Amino acid sequence: MTSVLHNCSTQGEFHLVAFSNYPHLQLAFIIGICFMYLISILGNLIILIIVCLAPKLHTPMYVFLCNLSVLDILYVSVISPKLLFIMITEDTSISYSQCLLQLFLYVFCAATEFYLLTTMAYDRYVAICVPLHYILLMNKLKCSLLSFVSWNLGAVNAMVYTLLISKLSFSDSKEINHLFCHMMSILKLSCGDSTHIGILIIVNGFTVGFMCMILIFSSYMRIISTILKIKTSSGRQKAFSRCSSHITTVLLFCLTSLSLNMKAENGQSEEQDKLLSMIYIGVVPMLNPLVYSLRNKNVITALRNILL
Ligand SMILES: *[C@@H]1O[C@H](CO)[C@@H](O)[C@H](O)[C@H]1NC(C)=O
Repeated sequence: MTSVLHNCSTQGEFHLVAFSNYPHLQLAFIIGICFMYLISILGNLIILIIVCLAPKLHTPMYVFLCNLSVLDILYVSVISPKLLFIMITEDTSISYSQCLLQLFLYVFCAATEFYLLTTMAYDRYVAICVPLHYILLMNKLKCSLLSFVSWNLGAVNAMVYTLLISKLSFSDSKEINHLFCHMMSILKLSCGDSTHIGILIIVNGFTVGFMCMILIFSSYMRIISTILKIKTSSGRQKAFSRCSSHITTVLLFCLTSLSLNMKAENGQSEEQDKLLSMIYIGVVPMLNPLVYSLRNKNVITALRNILL
C-alpha cells in the first residue's frame, strides 16, 4: 500500500489498446467500423432532412426523433473517428484532455439519450392514452422544456463524472484496454483509492438508468392496457403502430446498455466488453434511423413526397 502513491501524475497521455490484440482482424474491424460510422451519419442526416422538409412530420414525436438523431451523430463522432485513426495509424496515444473530452461527450450523449427516450415514452403515452388532450398536453412550450431538461440533465451528469475523474492521478502505465476513454477503464488506472468514485459512478448510473426505465415501463403498461381495451383489431393495430418504432428503439438501447453495464468488472470480460461496446457505439446509432424509416409509414410517405 505504501508504494501505491509514487509514480503518480495527472498529466501525460493514455493509450487506447482497441483491437491491437487481434492483428489479423484489424482490417476487418477498420472496414466494419468505417461502414457503421458512415451509415450512422448518413441515416441520421436523412432523418433530419426528411423531418425538416415534411410539414406533416412537425409533431413532437418527430421533433424529439430529430433530437435523437443529432445526439446519435454526436455520439458516433466522439468515438469512431478517433478509434479509426488509432487503428489505421497504430499510434494508440490519446492526450489527457482529449480523453476527458471524450468521456464528457460520451456520458453526455448516453445520459441525454436515456432522458430523451423517456420523454418520447411520455409523448406516446399522451398520444395513445389521452389523445383528446394531446395538443394541449404536448404544446410547443412543454416540448421545448422537456428537451431542454433532457439535454441539460445529461450535461450535468457528464460534468459531474468528468470532474470526479479529473481529480484522479494515474500511474505510469496508462493503457486503456477499451475502444475509447471508458469511465471504468480510466478508473482502473488511477493510483490511490478510487473505490468511492467507482461506487458513486455505478450508483448514479443505475439510478438514472432504472429511473428512466421505470418511467418508460409504466408509460408502456398504460399504453398496452389502453390498446387492449380497443374493441376492433384494426384499431388496436393502428394504435400499436403509433408506438412500435419507439418501443423498438427503447428495447435496443436499454438491452445493450444494460448488458454493457451490469456485468461484474473482472479482467476476463474486458475483451467481451469491447465487442459489446461495438454494438453500443456502432450498431445502435445506425439502427435508430432504420427502425424509424423502414417501420414507419409516415416517414416513408414523407420521403416519397420529397423525392417525387
Ligand atoms: C429538439 O426538441 C426541441 C423541443 O421539441 C426542439 O425545439 C428542437 O428544435 C429540437 N432540436 C433538434 C436539433 O431537432
